[in-house]
Amino acid sequence: MKFWRNPEYQTLRSELTPEGLFLDRRTLMAATGALGAGTILNPLAADAAPQKPQTAGAPPATAAAAAQAPQPGATLTARRTTYAVADVLSSEDAVTGYNNFYEFGTDKSDPARFADKMTVSPWSVSVEGETDAPRSYGLRELVDYSKLEERVYRHRCVEAWSMVVPWVGVPMADVIRKLKPKASARFVQFETYLNPKEMRGVRLPVLDWPYVEGLRMDEAMNELAFMAVGVYGKALPKQNGAPIRTVLPWKYGFKGTKSIVRIRFLKSQPPTSWNKAGANEYGFYSNVNPEVDHPRWSQATERVIGGKGFNERRRTEMFNGYSKQVASLYAGMDLAKNY
Ligand code: MTE
Repeated sequence: MKFWRNPEYQTLRSELTPEGLFLDRRTLMAATGALGAGTILNPLAADAAPQKPQTAGAPPATAAAAAQAPQPGATLTARRTTYAVADVLSSEDAVTGYNNFYEFGTDKSDPARFADKMTVSPWSVSVEGETDAPRSYGLRELVDYSKLEERVYRHRCVEAWSMVVPWVGVPMADVIRKLKPKASARFVQFETYLNPKEMRGVRLPVLDWPYVEGLRMDEAMNELAFMAVGVYGKALPKQNGAPIRTVLPWKYGFKGTKSIVRIRFLKSQPPTSWNKAGANEYGFYSNVNPEVDHPRWSQATERVIGGKGFNERRRTEMFNGYSKQVASLYAGMDLAKNY
């Protein structure tokens, strides 16, 4: 483990953020019209007019069209779902301004400052390994933009802070089915884009680049596993992992892979970036677990970012509150050993 920072240091940093930057839930809803049924509408959309219509249902006609990613910030239409939580949403400013994307630097403000250089369209994902359909897929072959859904998930970082985020995307299981994994595939690995010309942070060996993460296949097929292409009703900003990233709300945030360019189906457990950096601190599973502390800090509580009670601490819940959906995946496993 090299650069992971002490959470209390992050507390100090965030206290430097003017509180006026963070909108409360009511202001946010009024601003975005988020109460509208069925779709997410955003008056800011005019500032970020998409280059192509984003809601066309027909599949892309050519490989070039399939690889066209929406411009970050373009309005997306998404179906409301019952995946919601009682907690107050974190403000859009917090979600898009307080990030971990070490390829752009290790400070929370670096991704929003420096990710702009990253090319996110056209975008293809190479699918490899134990699959009957290995090849390069244009983004729109993986994700049908006419079938997007919104899910509000809790997001718990291993650094002991948390947010509540309205993601837009598709179930991971739907994407995986299209990729025809063989029965021999027991794990799936996701890999992030890597380009030193566009990513100033990779000049330093903070992690063994490219960023890689992995899941067991049954975890990847769980109903909660999500491939996000948007947040707050708009195509993902680059700092959040445009144009496509994984979201796994019962796991620590680092299990989510941003800006994915490769998906590998594997027979055995793949290496993962943070586990390589510090195996005694970051396990392969990394399920949120208030009873298993990080060697250098407690995981019993978390600091809430960008929501009501800004910076208040709350108790961390087992599997981040998603036990009902995921506990059975780990039946019989010692979660202190398989952290
Ligand atoms: N993916 C890449 N490629 N690089 C990263 O540094 N950071 C992880 C995860 N995915 C990271 C990454 C961590 S530690 C967290 S908490 C989440 O992204 C943060 O996602 P957010 O910035 O959208 O909140």
